[in-house]
Amino acid sequence: MNEPNVDTGTSPDATATDHTRSRYDLAAPVYDLMEWPIERGLYRSWRETLWAEVDGPQVLEIGVGTGKNIPYYPEGVHVTAIDLSPGMLKRARRVADRHPEKQVTLREMDAQALDFAVETFDDVVATFVFCSVPDPIQGLREALRVTRSGGGLHLLEHMRASPSWLARLMEVLDGPMHWLTGVHIARQTVQNVEAAGWTLDEVSTLSWGDIYRRITAHKSPD
Ligand SMILES: C[S@@+](CC[C@H](N)C(=O)[O-])C[C@H]1O[C@@H](n2cnc3c(N)ncnc32)[C@H](O)[C@@H]1O
Repeated sequence: MNEPNVDTGTSPDATATDHTRSRYDLAAPVYDLMEWPIERGLYRSWRETLWAEVDGPQVLEIGVGTGKNIPYYPEGVHVTAIDLSPGMLKRARRVADRHPEKQVTLREMDAQALDFAVETFDDVVATFVFCSVPDPIQGLREALRVTRSGGGLHLLEHMRASPSWLARLMEVLDGPMHWLTGVHIARQTVQNVEAAGWTLDEVSTLSWGDIYRRITAHKSPD
């Protein structure tokens, strides 16, 4: 099956990146309200489980959004958390202020062009982000570059469903959804992680149709 949403992992497309930023800036004031039911019903427990396995100590969170992961950052871990959208980051700052016990540095940055040296971090975490990064393979390659050898990648993502009828429907709806919200609903994120050079450790299905999955991978020595 062709992958319509995945770029080739070349240089980031400025127009696509501006589109994503503008959609999240627009959504930022109502984002938490919109997400509240799914956050309470599903995401919260998934976040808790994911972060319990991250020991860093130096961690990069890509696409921190409104800071929903901040309360789950483990003790003794320093998280550098980046996002493309100033509107989302503004809200993450408020959450960080409400949790002075968490060690977090927030920065505005594009995942496709990280401003960090090679092997800066022990682990990289992203939750529901690589559906939105315009060039996900480029973003995942950048994550790999800034992770030390042996370091981990921990993702929660929604992606193209396994049943073929639903996958086809997602492909049809993908364009309008992306235009409206900045989100791609038919990404093949497991394949993207491998294409970027990560070694997969585990992919677990979290929901019907394999739509939500947890992906764990690591950086193998060169
Ligand atoms: C669906 S939200 C998820 C936010 C948060 N991780 C959570 O779990 O609630 C996706 C986030 O990824 C950010 N994002 C999208 N593309 C990005 C990029 N190229 N670089 C950095 N952040 C990006 C968006 O601005 C948005 O805040």
